[in-house]
Amino acid sequence: MSFDLGPIEFHEDVLEAMTVGATSHVDPEFIHIFGKPIEMVRKVVLSKNARPFIVAGSGTLGWDMVATNLVKSGENALVISNGYFGDKFGLCLQNYGANDTFLHSSTPGDHPSLEAIERELLLKQYKLITVTHVDTSTGVLSDIAGIGRLVHQKFPETLVVADGVCSVGCEEIKFNDFGLDIVLTGSQKALGARQVDRSLLLLTGLSKPSSVESPC
Ligand SMILES: Cc1ncc(COP(=O)(O)O)c(C=O)c1O
Repeated sequence: MSFDLGPIEFHEDVLEAMTVGATSHVDPEFIHIFGKPIEMVRKVVLSKNARPFIVAGSGTLGWDMVATNLVKSGENALVISNGYFGDKFGLCLQNYGANDTFLHSSTPGDHPSLEAIERELLLKQYKLITVTHVDTSTGVLSDIAGIGRLVHQKFPETLVVADGVCSVGCEEIKFNDFGLDIVLTGSQKALGARQVDRSLLLLTGLSKPSSVESPC
């Protein structure tokens, strides 16, 4: 496995697996074939009970899935942004009607403090908070464990959504222990699965299913 920003070189086993024909989704074998990666995804985020959704699409589709399934028009979203991808995630939510508040660090290369995030969360009810675990544009690593635990303990109604496109598979993520509700990622980076004409999106959740009306 390579730990660069990707897209990366692929193991020959992965390339070989990509050469087999498509299996019907009603083929009994399909349950086994699809079940294995679901179990493996759980291991990547060190969780026994996270619910992975493996979908053909890009990381950006993960933003759309969050925007369409988890936040209604007019509801508040707190966007912790440490660069281009954090901002773009926020703009995606806005396009679907979310009422965004952006929190940036005052120092380039840093991230907003937990104190600043808590102050903001005390001001109004937020449906969700988004944080880019590693923003590819700046390389800033966010404290998703600190944010997840803070929200989980003090603001349990708010969903914690982590963009892990640039971190899943190379930065430690303890899904339950960190208090995360959603982690989204793409297959083309540290996970090292091939991006053909579309990449594979993994959406891992949800620990608060009651707050989701129409899961993907
Ligand atoms: C942190 C982060 N989020 C989201 C994306 C978007 O992913 P995709 O290019 O698969 O749509 C990227 C792409 O580089 C990224 O680095």
